[in-house]
Amino acid sequence: MLLKRADKLCGEVTVPGDKSISHRAVMFGSLALGTTRVTHFLQGADCLSTISCFRKMGIEIENNSDEILIHGKGLHGLCAPEGILDAGNSGTTTRLISGILSGQNFDVTLTGDASICKRPMKRIMTPLSMMGADITSINGNGCAPLLIKGTSLTGIHYDSPVASAQVKSSVLLAGLYADGITSVTEPFLSRNHTELMLHAFGANITSDGTTASIVPEPALHALEINVPGDISSAAYFIAAGLIVPNSEILIKNVGINPTRDGILRVALAMGGNITVMNKRTDGGEETADLLVKSSSLHGITIEGGIIPTLIDEIPVIAVMAAAADGTTTIKDAAELKVKESDRIAIVTDNLMKMGCDVTPTDDGMIITGGKSLHGATLDSCLDHRIAMSFAIAALIADGETHMKDAECVDISYPTFYSDLENLISKS
Ligand code: S3P
Repeated sequence: MLLKRADKLCGEVTVPGDKSISHRAVMFGSLALGTTRVTHFLQGADCLSTISCFRKMGIEIENNSDEILIHGKGLHGLCAPEGILDAGNSGTTTRLISGILSGQNFDVTLTGDASICKRPMKRIMTPLSMMGADITSINGNGCAPLLIKGTSLTGIHYDSPVASAQVKSSVLLAGLYADGITSVTEPFLSRNHTELMLHAFGANITSDGTTASIVPEPALHALEINVPGDISSAAYFIAAGLIVPNSEILIKNVGINPTRDGILRVALAMGGNITVMNKRTDGGEETADLLVKSSSLHGITIEGGIIPTLIDEIPVIAVMAAAADGTTTIKDAAELKVKESDRIAIVTDNLMKMGCDVTPTDDGMIITGGKSLHGATLDSCLDHRIAMSFAIAALIADGETHMKDAECVDISYPTFYSDLENLISKS
């Protein structure tokens, strides 16, 4: 795809529903009794993979574009799928479903695309095995495909070495099927959508600092869920509005859960002009409209507990840092290496190709911004967040940028390019 410089971006945009929340709505709705209605559901390829896995396990799910109806059959209502379950590109699907499958009374093989089959699954296999789960990596490399033989589980306390909502959620979901209490402590608090939504479905789940605990209940009960806009998708327009001169963008209905709002805190600390308006809470999730105006940004250090709250936004934060004066240092983000691609390597590689002064490190990168970027031929490496981040970099680069496999944005934001184009053409 060919991407060009833009003079300014103006107008309003409503980003699609939150990916993490959409996945969980399908999973928990399938395990609840009754019909769960979900509006503003994200119709991205990842969430469609979750729908397809639960349909294969006997759950009727009506998908009427923006609204979906999940006819849940209760905690013990899933049935053995015919053939294997395919999670596609989705780490959330793979890791969360593994927790659920561990406590069923049937066996499943779970796999995904080439990227998923390289991503680490030992991080869930270890705690699930401690609970008594029978889960093996078929190729013996700690990755999918996984063979999960349903069995009875015992509650544990797990001290997770990583701040990962996928690990935490996998263990807590297995905890729905365990005898006794299951709890997870993480080094820093990761996104808490599982805790908030399971509570709303009637689960006995509590949080205390960085520890979440669940006590099994006989049933979950269906809900109405209105999914807030995904702050990870809004992040591209936050960055674009800040770095493209003369811009003003209103991003409507964005989830600003404090475990996800690191991008806002970083953008403000870099000198960004962002107004958070119309704050409200829906189903335990805070949402707001964001007014973003062009700003002169300066570099900062990003490290520690804020990292899990912006982990998926680091590629676009790196683009903001390239446009900012001074040096931005990103530390404590080694997790970037095991995302849909090695995001430390790909982000720094692509930024260098555009003329940015950037150095990769073991757990992040150091970016000295302020130099003008130039267009380049870039590879998305089939990673949706790389494609979208560099579409934003292209807006401030001289000349043309060519992005390979740009359509991989379908994973989390199928209408990304037309939404971006809308803001450009309205200018
Ligand atoms: C997610 C958790 C994060 C995030 C991913 C979605 C979730 O992964 O990067 O895009 O929905 O729980 P980790 O839990 O591996 O950090």
